[in-house]
Amino acid sequence: MYFEVPRCVTLIFVFCIQNVWSESRMRHYDAVRYAPMEGRMPPVNPTLGITREVQCYMLCLKDVTCAGFSYSKLLSFCMLMGEKATDDVIAISNQMPHFYHFTVKELVVSKNVLLPQGYRWHDDLDLALRFHIENHRTRDQALEVCTVEGGVFVTIDTNDKMITVLNLLNTNSKLMSGPDNFYVAPTNTTSTAPVGQCDVLNRSGDFQQVDCNTQLPFICEKSNI
Ligand SMILES: *[C@@H]1O[C@H](CO)[C@@H](O)[C@H](O)[C@H]1NC(C)=O
Ligand SMILES: *[C@@H]1O[C@H](CO)[C@@H](O)[C@H](O)[C@H]1NC(C)=O
Repeated sequence: MYFEVPRCVTLIFVFCIQNVWSESRMRHYDAVRYAPMEGRMPPVNPTLGITREVQCYMLCLKDVTCAGFSYSKLLSFCMLMGEKATDDVIAISNQMPHFYHFTVKELVVSKNVLLPQGYRWHDDLDLALRFHIENHRTRDQALEVCTVEGGVFVTIDTNDKMITVLNLLNTNSKLMSGPDNFYVAPTNTTSTAPVGQCDVLNRSGDFQQVDCNTQLPFICEKSNI
């Protein structure tokens, strides 16, 4: 269930940005639309029967790995993006210059905080999670990505957190398609890793240790909002 209230804001430049507010299961999101790129999508094979940008948007919201999406009115093409091209709110895909690109940032209404790109709020856990599934990193590189976003590696220190994370790892098709191990923070119940070995969570819910230079997906959390 959702509703939308489009409104136009003229910025100092010629850009007219349309915000689409949407409510879905008590979660609120803000999508920013880059109007000047309207209808300028390159010819790409349509893969989904999407006819309205809001459908693409809603698809993205249901996908925990989706950080942004592109939609073409001309071709009815909807592209869900696991990662976006830049940190700008409005991004144009680097590979295809005529994409217009939506980014989705969740607004945590109870705290009046807009989460960083790609983070999704889990009210029961009182924190936001982001699954970095597309770009595999070594442990140090992965931690840096989380840190730059204002987060840290997720610490799986409660049963509820474990259930939430495992549920996503084993039901989301994109998360299921990747490797079985994800960098996470060690907890006080995981054994101390030998030098050069780092903690990973596998999708069965077991902690293991792998060479820290292994390039793997990883999970960040942001709780201090
Ligand atoms: C681990 O830390 C949690 C709090 O983060 C605490 O409740 C728990 O007792 C600790 N367990 C051990 C084995 O130290
Ligand atoms: C997770 O690790 C456990 C313990 O090493 C192993 O038995 C299990 O097969 C692993 N699961 C996956 C999906 O790799």
